[in-house]
Amino acid sequence: MCGIVGVTCLQGKLSSPAKIIRKCLEKLEYRGYDSVGLASIFKGMIVVRKGKGKIEEVHRRMNFDGVPGNTVIGHTRWATHGAPSDNNAHPHIDCGRIVAIVHNGIIKNYMELKKKLIAKGHIFRSETDTEVVAHLIEEYLNKGFKPYEAFKKAISHVKGSYAIAAIIISEPNTIFFAKKDSPLIIGIGDGFNFIASDIPAFLEHTRRIVVVKDFEVGYITPTNVFIENLHTGKIVDLSKRLRFISWTAEMAAKAGYPHYMLKEIHEQPRALRETINGLGEEIEQAANMIINARRVFITAAGTSFHAGLVLDYYLNSIAGIATIPLIASEYSKYVRSVKHGDLLIAISQSGETIDTLMAVREFKKRGAKILAISNVIDSAIPRESDLTVYTRAGPEIGVAATKTFTTQVLVELATVLKAAELNNSLDVSEIADLRKQLEKTPKIVEKTIMKHEAFVNSIAEIVHRKNSMYYLGRGLGVPIAMEGALKLKEIAYIHAEAYPAGESKHGPIALVEKDFPVLFIVLDDENSENILGNVTEMKARNALTIGLIPEHFEEFKEVLDHSIKIPLHDHLISPMTYTPILQLLAYYSAVKRGYDPDKPRNLAKTVTVE
Ligand code: F6R
Repeated sequence: MCGIVGVTCLQGKLSSPAKIIRKCLEKLEYRGYDSVGLASIFKGMIVVRKGKGKIEEVHRRMNFDGVPGNTVIGHTRWATHGAPSDNNAHPHIDCGRIVAIVHNGIIKNYMELKKKLIAKGHIFRSETDTEVVAHLIEEYLNKGFKPYEAFKKAISHVKGSYAIAAIIISEPNTIFFAKKDSPLIIGIGDGFNFIASDIPAFLEHTRRIVVVKDFEVGYITPTNVFIENLHTGKIVDLSKRLRFISWTAEMAAKAGYPHYMLKEIHEQPRALRETINGLGEEIEQAANMIINARRVFITAAGTSFHAGLVLDYYLNSIAGIATIPLIASEYSKYVRSVKHGDLLIAISQSGETIDTLMAVREFKKRGAKILAISNVIDSAIPRESDLTVYTRAGPEIGVAATKTFTTQVLVELATVLKAAELNNSLDVSEIADLRKQLEKTPKIVEKTIMKHEAFVNSIAEIVHRKNSMYYLGRGLGVPIAMEGALKLKEIAYIHAEAYPAGESKHGPIALVEKDFPVLFIVLDDENSENILGNVTEMKARNALTIGLIPEHFEEFKEVLDHSIKIPLHDHLISPMTYTPILQLLAYYSAVKRGYDPDKPRNLAKTVTVE
């Protein structure tokens, strides 16, 4: 939930390492922005500057760039233990100020460790779980252990999830690290090395990376990287782990857009094209896993769950395969029924969402096979899955998922078409037609965004003044409506609910009065007549009706107050063509209400806490 970063360099190799770390933290701020801090080693002392607030605000107060030293660690926090405050901001130090530490994750046994340390005379300054590690390291240093041994000893006591970076004054050119369940990447430079929660943090400085795996510990110096398994002591052969990142730092920056979210909405045609280009033989392997499964479960959280509902629709309606979709945090209800032969499809853009990861682990333990759909190579969920199909959306910095949703849908449709081909559930010519449509999808999305952005902005002028809104659809329109409502809720802070349109008459319609906004997702499918009836019902209650409709649906234009006409295509690709319009509506509504859509309150990009 937090972002950590560290750099250590030879004297003069990088000008102002602290400034570099501040900039790295800006790229990690999407992981949390409750507080921020830096620590370095300088002239045999630990220097710490930290405080509550976003990086820019705290930097203005503290001048991070002025932190001296060639070995610097930094942290941006999303609070879990202890409220956002100056004291709870990382880095945390021990009693003797000989250790500083940054951490992403949750130390489950911290209370027990803290009590023991307090009994030994340690004094704690924060309410965080993290601080125990600094004191534990100090404890072992005081017992005479060498710094790296003391670090390892301390880590061996920790239960829970962690990506940790620590500096110790007696080793001024070294950053120690350890990882379990939270991401940690090393960036390898010439005369300097980085460590961070995510690649974009240091991409401006190096593209050579090594992904640290669970239960690995080690250290970086300006010229050396050492990694070993905490339990077995097996040393990692770096030449086998080294990877080269082809995407650039610019790709991760805003590229002229006012917000990452808008940039990422506009990136969708490219992300979809790259995802199509990246489809390989794993599609057939995935399709085989699906058609051979005893039962197919689908799990995910948030937007990825909506992609899961799209997959549920595809598998049922195209390949004739019944599925059980479940929200990841609710997995426990199903656990006892899971058996060998079952398949769990886990969808997670980050590959690190703890709820989804826990569902994967429990299902796996009970003999289910795991198929992952993810955007982040080597992240936790892909690593623990039998097979992963990757989306190629590139880094998504805006907290709200946009391009990662549409690319998830794309790989789902490609996989289901393959499954339908293998189990002969759909006509060969229909499959070929749909594949052609899939090929054209990036172009249709591009055209739709270009054609409607200004109009959607004008609708946002109305929507942003409302307190509540309904999104209604039928069939495949339901998950699209759910995704639209989630976007409006999470970034514009407008209450929004999605319903199957038929269900609206069984309760929700009671709230509808004059000018209550109701947005309809109208697809070119067998539901159009019924949904026209639903629009008319809402109109009769004087609702303000907005519709995303196929461009040739004249009869809808006459009833709707506002129609957004989507170019003609098969309704099965609608989650990719309609959703960008809903993303834009939420984006412009948020901006008009004065909110920062990239950093919605109370939310973090990757939720690594259950
Ligand atoms: C909403 C959003 C979240 C994520 C959810 C799952 O815009 O971004 O609802 O979709 O936290 O995240 P991943 O896909 O990384 O597992």
